Amino acid sequence: MISVTTVLILVVLAYFYRDYFTAMPTSNPLVNTQGEDEKPVVEGKFTPATLVRFNGSDDPQILIAVKGKVYDVSQGASFYGPGGPYENFAGRDASRGLAKNSFEKDCLTPIDQPLDTLDNLSKDEQEALDGWEEHFSNKYPMVGRLNNEN
Ligand code: HEM
Repeated sequence: MISVTTVLILVVLAYFYRDYFTAMPTSNPLVNTQGEDEKPVVEGKFTPATLVRFNGSDDPQILIAVKGKVYDVSQGASFYGPGGPYENFAGRDASRGLAKNSFEKDCLTPIDQPLDTLDNLSKDEQEALDGWEEHFSNKYPMVGRLNNEN
């Protein structure tokens, strides 16, 4: 006869066993996992067009750019993943949205246009953005930089 305790232990073990595998890294931004027709990501170098696929749906890894630095925010998938409140930032340069406290799409520069120079932000907006930059640099690993071209 299997006791309740044994069942509980098995359930807990099954839970951690599953976590062990789901926690394994599934992809690396530095390795091109797409078809050969896709441009490979050069180590640590991103353009708006190569960043965009790291949006949590085309690739499970989620990257966002803040003031030219690219952070791996996959650990914050509940914020940035599909259906999350800040999903618009995933795979994009979030700088202007963070500065203006807006996650609306109109704060995102289209990926076929030159990078946002951010030079028309007010002092308050720049300070807000600097605060966010500190938040991201303390919380998430930086994996590269965002440029107009590789
Ligand atoms: C409706 C108003 C909002 C509410 C209630 C709200 C709520 C929250 C909460 C509870 C957190 C988690 C804080 C923590 O780390 O413990 C958070 C984080 C965050 N919020 Fe909001 N928020 C709001 C509006 C916004 C707006 C407009 C933006 C646009 C810039 C924004 C961007 C962020 C970002 C980037 C994070 C950090 C997520 C991370 O650490 O990766 N939030 N928000």
